[in-house]
Amino acid sequence: MDAVAETASLFTSMRNPKVLLALGPAAVRGLLLHRGKRGRATEVPAHHVARFDWSYPDDHPEMRALYERAKRSQWNAATDLPWQISVDPLDPTVPLVPDDFLDRETAIRCGISLDAAAHRRLTADFASWALSQFLHGEQGALYAAAQVTESVQFFDGKLYGSTQVVDEGRHVEVFHRYLTEKLQKLYAVNDNLYVILDALLRDSRWDMKFLGMQIMIEGLALGAFGVIYQQTKEPLLKALLRGVMRDEVRHVHYGVLALRDHIAQLSERERREREEWALEVAILLKNRFLAYEVYDEWFAGSRVSRKQWRTFVDLAPGMRRFRHIMFHRLIPNLREIGLLTPQVRPRYEQAGLSKYFEGPAAHEITEDRLFADLEADRRPVGADSD
Ligand SMILES: [Fe+2]
Ligand SMILES: [Fe+2]
Repeated sequence: MDAVAETASLFTSMRNPKVLLALGPAAVRGLLLHRGKRGRATEVPAHHVARFDWSYPDDHPEMRALYERAKRSQWNAATDLPWQISVDPLDPTVPLVPDDFLDRETAIRCGISLDAAAHRRLTADFASWALSQFLHGEQGALYAAAQVTESVQFFDGKLYGSTQVVDEGRHVEVFHRYLTEKLQKLYAVNDNLYVILDALLRDSRWDMKFLGMQIMIEGLALGAFGVIYQQTKEPLLKALLRGVMRDEVRHVHYGVLALRDHIAQLSERERREREEWALEVAILLKNRFLAYEVYDEWFAGSRVSRKQWRTFVDLAPGMRRFRHIMFHRLIPNLREIGLLTPQVRPRYEQAGLSKYFEGPAAHEITEDRLFADLEADRRPVGADSD
């Protein structure tokens, strides 16, 4: 019942009928029909248009520069990462994520009692769950990058896009190998993540795919990768995330380049629709990425309710840190592409996100700056999060 009520609250929260139309059917497929969890494969029809350009123009110098940078930055995940390292997710001396990521005191306060060994196993499972969602997100990114490469109107964007397809393939490779070879545990796709992937892969408009994948999901990925990169003591995972994040910085940069010019020339009605779509997805990411797959495995049918679990995950220091880094990356990019006007700012304020309005956008963030920020930004969790 709790799950159905939660789905209903998603529908009633959407104020723009066009946004409801764009996200609603995907929400039914993901949250009620659990399409991402029915069997081995899910077929998602596409409706976009492939665009040929027989004149092969040099039409976007910044995208061309990004293409050159991407070619120079290619790496081989099979030979460039230290796969010989053995990983024990329960070894307390080399934690995947720190003990206080989902801290025991918060669990107890939420009525979830765990002894030390169970808490360690739960934390390891949670790390596997998060990495599994990264893997599923990367699979979506691979297909979205391929679709966008077909349909984008900039020829230099198509050349750049070809490198992103390779990058996303490599990301699928590394997360899948890490999960199956090192952690030996792979979780199903989270229903809320499925909703976003389903909605944007079906959408016929290339800019919605861009917005969904290059800005929203990549923002989520940079936030999640960043927080685990900052906190893990496991050297293979750290090296793997570093390699992936270096690629993702280019992907978000590309999204901002393509959307900034495009959104500026949309009608006000079209721009508003995108602005509100982005707001709904941001709130979906903030409130709903709550690891119910772990709850189902550990607590379904027990005295621990979904509501208790939700409060626990919501308050846990690692999740607060994750939301902080994610929105710190995401919201300035929305501003940069023209989707954070005074019309939606009050709703971001209501969601407690106004402190991110003035941060640096993707084109101001180099790989070096990203890692320097992550190293420097190690203040205690909770001081500024949420
Ligand atoms: Fe990726
Ligand atoms: Fe990416």
